[in-house]
Amino acid sequence: MYHVAVDPSWRRRGIATALVSRAQSELAKANIRRVHALMLSGNRGAMQFWTAGGRRLREDVSLVSCELGATTLN
Ligand SMILES: CC(C)(COP(=O)(O)OP(=O)(O)OC[C@H]1O[C@@H](n2cnc3c(N)ncnc32)[C@H](O)[C@@H]1OP(=O)(O)O)[C@@H](O)C(=O)NCCC(=O)NCCS
Repeated sequence: MYHVAVDPSWRRRGIATALVSRAQSELAKANIRRVHALMLSGNRGAMQFWTAGGRRLREDVSLVSCELGATTLN
């Protein structure tokens, strides 16, 4: 999952929860034991979503990025 998004008119109905839950259970079947989500720090909705349901915010990890091409990604 690179960017989970739900149409604004359909939010807060559990759609992203269902999508992530299904993806996580399929990954678990493949013996993948831990997954991570990246979000922009100012994205409060994403932060609220990803920290809901027992997931924990990691404050002991820093992210370093390196631009390798002409395109700049957020
Ligand atoms: C983040 C996003 C995918 C959540 O989708 P969703 O289908 O609305 O999420 P859910 O209904 O499954 O929400 C589950 C829980 O997460 C939390 N949550 C989700 N969105 C929230 C928000 N905007 N503010 C506060 N809490 C939120 C709530 O605890 C919610 O449970 P509740 O509705 O019973 O209170 C959606 O808001 C979105 O598309 N945002 C724009 C794109 C984006 O920023 N994606 C994340 C990129 S990392």
